[in-house]
Amino acid sequence: MLKILTVIGARPQIIKAAALSRAIAEVFSGNIREVIVHTGQHYDNNMSQVFFDELGIPAPVYNLCIGSASHGVQTARMIEGIEKVLMDEKPDFLVLYGDTNSTLAGAVAASKLRIPIAHVEAGLRSFSKSMPEEINRIVCDHASTLLFSPTATGFSNLVREGFSATASPPYTSDNPKIYHCGDVMYDNSLHFAERAEKISGILEKHRLEAGKYLLSTIHRDNNTDIPERLNAIFQALDDISRRRHLQVIMPLHPRTAGLLHQNLSNSLYTSVGKNKFIKIIPPVSFLDMIRLEKSARLILTDSGGVQKEAYFFEKPCVIARSETEWTEITDAGAGIIADADTARLLKAMKYFLEHPPVNFPAVFGDGRAAEFICRELLRTAGSNISSDLF
Ligand code: UD1
Ligand code: UDP
Repeated sequence: MLKILTVIGARPQIIKAAALSRAIAEVFSGNIREVIVHTGQHYDNNMSQVFFDELGIPAPVYNLCIGSASHGVQTARMIEGIEKVLMDEKPDFLVLYGDTNSTLAGAVAASKLRIPIAHVEAGLRSFSKSMPEEINRIVCDHASTLLFSPTATGFSNLVREGFSATASPPYTSDNPKIYHCGDVMYDNSLHFAERAEKISGILEKHRLEAGKYLLSTIHRDNNTDIPERLNAIFQALDDISRRRHLQVIMPLHPRTAGLLHQNLSNSLYTSVGKNKFIKIIPPVSFLDMIRLEKSARLILTDSGGVQKEAYFFEKPCVIARSETEWTEITDAGAGIIADADTARLLKAMKYFLEHPPVNFPAVFGDGRAAEFICRELLRTAGSNISSDLF
C-alpha cells in the first residue's frame, strides 16, 4: 500500500485535493492510503470547512491551526508543524498543490527529510517574482520528484528551466519526472457541475437572472493592498454596472472585504455601497460558486482558479492582473488581461459584452487528471499492484 501525505491549507488547495481524494476512493482504495494535513492557513468556515462538507474530502488527520501571520512567521510555523508530521508518518510521497505558503512549507520540510514530493499544478509561471506565489511555485517545482503540469505551457516552462522531458526511472529530486497531465480543477468542474445545478440555490437567494450578471472575485495582494489598484477595479465595476444596468455579484475574500473601507476613496466606497447593481457577499461554497460561474454573462477576476473555471464553463473572463499563468485562455481569445486599470477593464468588459467568445479548445485535459496522477505515483513507487490499474 502506497502511503501519501497531502498538505492543504488555502481554499483552492482544498478544492483541488478533492479530485485526488475522489480518485483514490473510487479507483485506488486498495493501493493508496492518503493522510491529509491541513495547515490552517485558511480557517473561516466559508474558506475551509464548507469544502470538506460539500466535496466529500476526508477529514484532515492533522490540523496545524497556523492561521494568518506575516509570510515569514506563517511559513516557518508551517514548516515546523509539517516536519513533525512527516517524521511521525514517514509517507512514501508528499503531495503538494499549487503555490501558496502551505505549498512552500511542505516543499521545504519534505526535501530536507528526503521525502519525495509530487507537485500538482507544476510549471505555472507569471514571470513576476514580486508575486509571492511565483517564489513558492519555483521552489516547490525545483524540490520535487514528480511534477504534474496541467497545461502544455506549464510543461514547456519546466523544460526551459532545465527539467528533462525524457527522464528515465528511478526518479528523484535530482532526476525528476515532468508530466503534462491535465488539470484536476477541470476534473472537479466536470464532476460537480450537474450537482451544483440541482443543489445550489445561490441565484434564487440573490435574485440573479441566468445570463444577465457579471461575477467578480478579487483577492490578489497587489490588488487589495495597493489603494490605486483597488480603486481602479471598483471604479470600473461601479461604472459599468451603473451605465449598463448590469448586476454585479462579488463573493469577496475576507482579505479584500477587510480592506475596502481603508483602501477605497471615501467617494467610491460610498458610491459602491449605494449602487443597487453591485452586491458584495461573503465567500460562497464551491457548488454555489460553480453555479454562479455557469450562469454568468461575464466574469472579472484576479483569481487563477476562477479564470480557469470561467473557461471550463465557456464564459468570457476579464483578468484584473498584468499577466496570467493560464495563457491558453488569452490565446483562445476567451480572456483579456486588463490589469487594474479602469479604462482597460471597461474596454475589455464592453468588448466581451458585445462579442462573447466562441472558441474554447480543450486544453485542460480530459477530466481524469487525478487518476493519471495516482497511477504515476504508484508506478514510480514500483508498487506491487494489479496491472489492470494501468
Ligand atoms: C492565499 C495564497 C494565494 C491564494 C489564496 C487563495 C499565499 C502567499 N497566498 O492568499 O496564492 O490565491 O490564498 O484564496 O499563500 N483571512 C481570513 N480568514 C481566512 C483566511 C484568511 O480572514 O480563513 C484573511 C486574514 O486577514 C489574512 C488574509 O485573509 O491575513 C490573507 O490570508 P492569507 O492566507 O495569508 O493569504 P491569501 O490572500 O488568502
Ligand atoms: N471559490 C469558491 N467560493 C468563492 C470564491 C472562489 O468556492 O467564494 C473557488 C473557485 O470556484 C475556485 C477556487 O475557489 O475553485 C479559487 O480559489 P481562489 O480564487 O481563492 O484562489 P486562486 O485560484 O487564485 O489561487
